[in-house]
Amino acid sequence: MSSIPHPVDLSVKPDITPFFDPATNTVSYVVKDPNSSACAVIDSVMDIDYASGHIAPLSADRIIGLIQERGWHLEWLIETHVHADHLSAAPYIQSKLGGKIGIGDNIRVVQETFGKIFNEGTEFQRDGSQFDRLFQDGDTYQIGGMTAFAMHTPGHTPACMTHVIGDAAFVGDTLFMPDGGSARADFPGGDARTLYRSIRRVLELPAATRLFMCHDYGPNGRDIRWETTVAEQRAHNIHARDGITEDEFVAAREARDRTLDMPKLIIPSLQVNMKAGQLPSADESGRRFLKVPLNAL
Ligand SMILES: [Fe+2]
Repeated sequence: MSSIPHPVDLSVKPDITPFFDPATNTVSYVVKDPNSSACAVIDSVMDIDYASGHIAPLSADRIIGLIQERGWHLEWLIETHVHADHLSAAPYIQSKLGGKIGIGDNIRVVQETFGKIFNEGTEFQRDGSQFDRLFQDGDTYQIGGMTAFAMHTPGHTPACMTHVIGDAAFVGDTLFMPDGGSARADFPGGDARTLYRSIRRVLELPAATRLFMCHDYGPNGRDIRWETTVAEQRAHNIHARDGITEDEFVAAREARDRTLDMPKLIIPSLQVNMKAGQLPSADESGRRFLKVPLNAL
């Protein structure tokens, strides 16, 4: 395993405000530079009641409310990956507060795959141009005085990135809490072996690095939690702690994935999130429609 150069600065401690969405078990974060008003939003959620087709920015408005109330300046809207379980609210928040929407450069691979599945026409650009910034492995960007570092951690999806900001790393769906293990690797473009290597890369960060999950499902009835450390994951992660080999991980991950149903919101989520969270364009009557491809997933 090659070790990676990473500008992890454990002396920089961003102020982190989590927002837990109980409908999708997603944790969104506002990450603020302690020495300026600059902040970033990671993995925001647009509420949807799929049965009725209603969407509402309830979760996003709580985030906007916090940022406005404190007078913070939103610089970035980060998507750790193209989520399959919730809609992104990034364009909605951007329309209220500004900021640039960023995702991993391999979004182009995801757009190619799902552009076909949803039979998107030629007007759907598969070059990631719906986003303001495409991150490659090792890219850095600024949140006020803090330098953030994007690390490519594919396996759950091809475009997954872990974002390291000071002493905190936002792992997306690379890892779950130690008692939750890891995310599934069976979506189109996912791969358990690749996921193992990405997880080990994250676990090469300094032991004290704070790790923030994108999801928690409260396994075995425990309360919802989203924060742990590299040291805790290396000691206790049920799928990927130190000592579990790549082959053991792959066998267990693939066996578990064979038992999982598709996420309830995968169809609306992917077709919206692959376009940076933009809703489908309105037709001549002003209404918007989602597609349901039959027997395609
Ligand atoms: Fe995910």
